[in-house]
Amino acid sequence: MTSAPAFPIYPHRHLLGIKDLSPGDIELLLDRAEKAVAISRQPEKKTSTLRGRTQINLFYESSTRTQSSFELAGKRLGADVMNMSVASSSVKKGETLIDTAMTLNAMRPDILIIRHSSAGAAALLAQKVGCAVVNAGDGAHEHPTQALLDALTIRRAKGRIGRLTVAICGDILHSRVARSNIILLNALGAAVRVVAPSTLLPSGIRDMGVTVYNSMAEGLKGVDVVMMLRLQRERMAGAMVPSVREYFRYFGLDSEKLKAANDGALVMHPGPMNRGVEIASEIADGPQSVIQEQVEMGVAVRMAVMEALLDPRRDPEGRA
Ligand code: NCD
Repeated sequence: MTSAPAFPIYPHRHLLGIKDLSPGDIELLLDRAEKAVAISRQPEKKTSTLRGRTQINLFYESSTRTQSSFELAGKRLGADVMNMSVASSSVKKGETLIDTAMTLNAMRPDILIIRHSSAGAAALLAQKVGCAVVNAGDGAHEHPTQALLDALTIRRAKGRIGRLTVAICGDILHSRVARSNIILLNALGAAVRVVAPSTLLPSGIRDMGVTVYNSMAEGLKGVDVVMMLRLQRERMAGAMVPSVREYFRYFGLDSEKLKAANDGALVMHPGPMNRGVEIASEIADGPQSVIQEQVEMGVAVRMAVMEALLDPRRDPEGRA
């Protein structure tokens, strides 16, 4: 794929969060991602758009799907991709994020992809390095490429985002996926609901432009998309749910609860899934599930983001 002049120049140097993007920026990335889907479906998947560019994946939290998705996306664009495995690096020896960033920066990468357990880590890195930075998840703050891939999946299945009703269900409190999705879906004109027990809702959630429900039967009534979230037990200090069995009974998506949604409602999950905790297997593998499509769209969206950020029509400082 060449950097088609047909696409306007993307106006940001980094992708730190959906909150920095206008609806037009979001649509531009989704349109670019459509082209990347076509490339990934060809037998010959390698292009030369980012040939000679260096991409470093700096993952401070373990991740399978997001890291491999960014790696494949870079490789399909022809970039040289390096994975910094934090577990075996000097980070374990006590080096700070900034020192690690400065060291990597001195190697002159063109793009850094970072995942970190602290909110704001990606923005901090962006201030310190001379290359483009992509936030691959920072604490419970944002996960912009996840929201973009979810939007692409919805747009391809339903033909639009505006005027759809989307229910985001489960552990909203710990979820950067929920935050980024709420911002994006609102920006594109969807009606957003959150469905969760009150212990799993952040304070101030009502200020984010969502309608809050504490019952699946009510919250799923008439929705076009049901987005399930993983119960992030590793981030829970105390017992926020009585038991997993109890949680599944009230908040797990099964065929009975899904009946409340519109016919043909999409079922989504960012993964990794806890089958039998937030979602029943029969639903995860059922006809309404687009969970595998989400994974496919993830590679395409990450290709689109990296191409847009490293557009050769920008000057070396990254300005348009
Ligand atoms: C999500 C994440 O890491 O925020 N997963 C992902 O990116 N594939 C959601 C989660 O961990 O539950």
